[in-house]
Amino acid sequence: MYTIEVNGLAHAVDTEDDTPLLYVLRNHLGLKGTRFGCGQGLCGACLVLVDGRPEYSCTMPMWSVGERAITTVEGLGTPERPHPVAQAFIDAQAAQCGYCTSGMIIGAVGLLAENDAPTEDEVRAALDRNLCRCGAHNRIVRAVRAAAGEIGPDHDS
Ligand code: FES
Ligand code: FES
Repeated sequence: MYTIEVNGLAHAVDTEDDTPLLYVLRNHLGLKGTRFGCGQGLCGACLVLVDGRPEYSCTMPMWSVGERAITTVEGLGTPERPHPVAQAFIDAQAAQCGYCTSGMIIGAVGLLAENDAPTEDEVRAALDRNLCRCGAHNRIVRAVRAAAGEIGPDHDS
């Protein structure tokens, strides 16, 4: 039995030591916003904030979570009151299928916590581990820079 903190709430979870945090989030806690992509730390679909830093939840076994605070995309805001980064993604229409989007948003929130005025190159470098099969990268970069206030949402370069 583990007790983990997710989105500010403590959850008791009965699971194996090596169960990935991703499975617990999705299957035990019903937080489906965190996505399974590769399961190998290669695509970024499963990113969550761990004490504020983006980490892969697919390769994080439950035994390693400890008392660290986990934040999933559900913990960032609500449909009625989206997080500013989520709102910037909406404004920039920075998705096609949306499968990568929660990981992208988590990665961007982690970046902006450390660098509130990233250049385009810095955004690209920070999100380099997030894959988007739809090729929405340019709009995603634009959304992140708009969230930082560096450009307006309609900027097209
Ligand atoms: S599912 Fe975790 S990095 Fe791809
Ligand atoms: S919007 Fe489809 S994978 Fe990124």
